[in-house]
This record gives sequence, structure tokens and C-alpha cells, in this order.
Amino acid sequence: MEKVTGKSVTGVKNLSRGNIEYILDLAEKIEPIVKGESTAQPLKGKILCTFFYEPSTRTRLSFETAMLRLGGGVVSMADAQTTSSVWKGETLKDTIKTIENYADVIALRHFEAGAAVEADSHSRIPIINSGDGPNEHPTQTLLDMLTIKKEKGRLDNLKVAIVGDLKHTRSAHSLTLGLSNFDNIEFVFVSPDTFKTNDWIKDIVKEKGNTYVESEDLANAILDVDVIYMCRIQKERIEDPAEFAKIDGLYDLNRALIDNCTKKPIILHHLPRVKELDEDVDDYEGAAYFKQTYNGVLVRGALMTMVLNKEDEVK
Ligand code: NCD
Repeated sequence: MEKVTGKSVTGVKNLSRGNIEYILDLAEKIEPIVKGESTAQPLKGKILCTFFYEPSTRTRLSFETAMLRLGGGVVSMADAQTTSSVWKGETLKDTIKTIENYADVIALRHFEAGAAVEADSHSRIPIINSGDGPNEHPTQTLLDMLTIKKEKGRLDNLKVAIVGDLKHTRSAHSLTLGLSNFDNIEFVFVSPDTFKTNDWIKDIVKEKGNTYVESEDLANAILDVDVIYMCRIQKERIEDPAEFAKIDGLYDLNRALIDNCTKKPIILHHLPRVKELDEDVDDYEGAAYFKQTYNGVLVRGALMTMVLNKEDEVK
């Protein structure tokens, strides 16, 4: 296990297996504080700024919950494009040069790939990428991986189906990159031809010694997997309505499909769900998507503790 050495967390692409294990271990260590069983306040006196150019429910609220539970404070811009000076034309650089005078750490969500790396280059304080356009969503992946670890007891030796708009879904990109660091991972990418995972991500899967197959057939693809990861179709990132129509409603995971699976897979979804995951899955014992939302508090709290160098205060 080793701590991330840079000041910020901009993507899973830069994280090693040891970095991921370090963060997940710290997430489990802060759980007693989050649950109120320990009175430690490792982030007392620290301020988080959540600055979001795109909509969010879970990412922003779980960051803020984690900071408050760990003893710190929060300032928040939930709708930066319309209610901050971004609306007046302020650049990302000037925005960051301003926020660094108010807060100790920034959780940034932006509509452009690479925005977190750019923000980091302008910032004195740590940036945690909370989604940069269609590129990456590292905090989502870490909570996905914590959920898999807790539910399956391991992060090696897994067959994982990732289903939906794999071209534009940043959570799917980061999850693939994150799991690729582990051993004997078999990916099953389920999407129509024009929504396939990017080649550079598939290249990394192979470079790291893991394997993938691609399929368009959900029912067959999931028969013997350990994990099914459902993704929302990223409507706002698909410009051509005809393209969107090809995938809208195409995949719909329901209880009957899961009951055909041989290995009682766990079901994950980054949420929000729209048409791709039926409510009749909610009382299936392997349904873990609301557990993911809880694990988000742990992982985001761990990330802030790590980048603010407060691990020793976790008791
Ligand atoms: C996702 C996102 O914003 O990338 N939401 C999330 O953070 N859980 C997924 C989505 O919007 O579909």
C-alpha cells in the first residue's frame, strides 16, 4: 500500500494498485468516525470547496457529508455555470486562483476532459476530480471498488460486465482502469458498436495482463459474471438524436435476467438510473447500488484525509 505522492487526485489512470489499496484501507479506517462511533475529527479546521459545473446529487452531497462528519467545513457552488462568475466569462484558472484563498481542498466537476489536470496546474491546494466531461470519475471508481471488495471479498479474480454507453460514461472508463491494476480480471463490455469503450482504455487492459470481450447481447453476456455494472446512457454527451435513439432503452436489467445468472452476481450502478435498471432488482440480495452511495462518503472522506495529510488523526 502506498499513498498517492502528487498533491491532487485527477484520474485513476495515474493510480497504482498500491495507491488504490491505500485509499480503500483508509476508507475503512474512517468508517467509525462517519458512523459516530469515534469522536476523532481529523479534518477539523479544514474547508472543502465543492465547485460543480455539471449537475450532481451523490458526488457533491457525499463529499460534503464526509467533510462535515470528519470535523471540517464546506463552501459549495452547485451550479457554477449559472450562479458563479463563470456565467460572466471567468476562466477556470481565475476561478481556481480565487478558491484557493478560501478553501483547503477543491472537489471539481467540469464538462471538459482534462479540466482537473488543468485546475491542478493552477492550484496551490489539492484538486479532487469529481468528473471531467466524458473522461474520468476517479472518486466514483474508488467507491465502486470498495463496494466490490466488501460484497465479494476480493478485487482479484473477477469477471465483470460493464453495460451501456461505454464511449461517454466516465465511471465506466475509470472503473476499467482501476480494476485493470488487479489480477485475473475478465471484462465483458456490453454496448452497441458505436458506443464501445475507447481503444486507449482497452489497450491498458491488455498491457496490464487482463482480458476483455465485447458483446451487444446483455442476457448472454452476464450469464457467468461476478459483477454487473450498469451505466446510464449519457444523453447530454450524445449530439446526434439518431445515435441516442440507437441505445435509449436498449439495455434493461431486470430480475428475470439476473435469476438466469449462474454466480449470483452483485449489481452496481453509479446512479442516477433511468431505463437500464428495473426497480424489481432492488430487493435482490446482490443489489448494491445504494450501498455504493454510502461507500461514497467513506472513500471521499479518505481522499480528503489523504490529500490533506491527516491520516495520523484518524483514530
Ligand atoms: C455519474 C456522473 O456524473 O458521471 N453520476 C455520479 O457521479 N454518480 C453518472 C451519470 O451521470 O450518469
